[in-house]
Amino acid sequence: MPRVISITGQKGGIGKTTSTIHIASRLADMGFKTCIIDFDTTQSNVTRSVIGPIWESDEKVRGICDVMANGGSLDEVFYETDRENLYIIPSEKKDSRGANYNIEALLNQLGLEGFNLLKELIDESQKIGECHFVLIDNAPSLGITTVSSLLAADYFLIPVQTSDLSMESIGDTITAGLKVKKLQNPYLEPLGFFISSMDKRPKMAKKAIHELTDLSEQTGIHFFETIIPISSKFAFLPRERKTIFDVTKTSERGHKEYLGLVDEVLERIKMIETHESQSATTRSPGKEA
Ligand SMILES: Nc1ncnc2c1ncn2[C@@H]1O[C@H](COP(=O)(O)OP(=O)(O)O)[C@@H](O)[C@H]1O
Ligand SMILES: [Mg+2]
Repeated sequence: MPRVISITGQKGGIGKTTSTIHIASRLADMGFKTCIIDFDTTQSNVTRSVIGPIWESDEKVRGICDVMANGGSLDEVFYETDRENLYIIPSEKKDSRGANYNIEALLNQLGLEGFNLLKELIDESQKIGECHFVLIDNAPSLGITTVSSLLAADYFLIPVQTSDLSMESIGDTITAGLKVKKLQNPYLEPLGFFISSMDKRPKMAKKAIHELTDLSEQTGIHFFETIIPISSKFAFLPRERKTIFDVTKTSERGHKEYLGLVDEVLERIKMIETHESQSATTRSPGKEA
């Protein structure tokens, strides 16, 4: 069974999509079979950045929206990518008649079943079952799609952009995750929050680190040591369907930090799981290291 990590955040532009792609790509490069689920179904930015805008192609490529709306298995929309070990369940944005999908409304209509649909689909997928990691990219909201992603996840990870530091929104995201853990998904663990794009102004950087350290102390949620710097290279990557690992040397800004972030993510998971096994908490069956 894979470890399912939901990349969450109430706001847009905080680095959810960029970090989903980079963490997943690095895990794949390390030899872990990794699948990205594009669950920001209105923007479909992960899909656009990894395999291109499938909704613009003549032949209709199915994705997660069609499976949710019309039935089927995620195995039918589990695609290879150009990167070895990296797979994607894309969001196709538009239905066969060219109308935009509204997955939020669809899940709301289904009520309780809607909240659990993503989890059920993941649990039933044989291909996902063969992965080591699943990373879910989410919409910039704490609505039903993000909640259902938290219900399906083992971990949630929160990116923070320091140029638009909103402690309230980070706090709300933490609260939402912990509420889902308490009420519905006891296996959900917060991995923590990390700076996905550090302001270059020293004063702002200092302030951000100070405020985030305080938040970590108040909430008990881990603040990652690795800080991703701002790099103009990130802006061009989606169009070229590349990652920072493909276009820069290991020592360059952003590249080495994303390598470090993934090491830290793996360390955190190991630490949490060791602690859990010592305190004899049973995880979902088959989650062996
Ligand atoms: N470290 C970084 N340096 C510079 N730009 C970045 C960095 N990380 C992300 N970005 C850019 O910030 C914008 C928002 O990031 P994105 O991952 O799409 O956020 P979200 O998915 O939360 O909306 C994108 O244009 C992306 O290229
Ligand atoms: Mg996004």
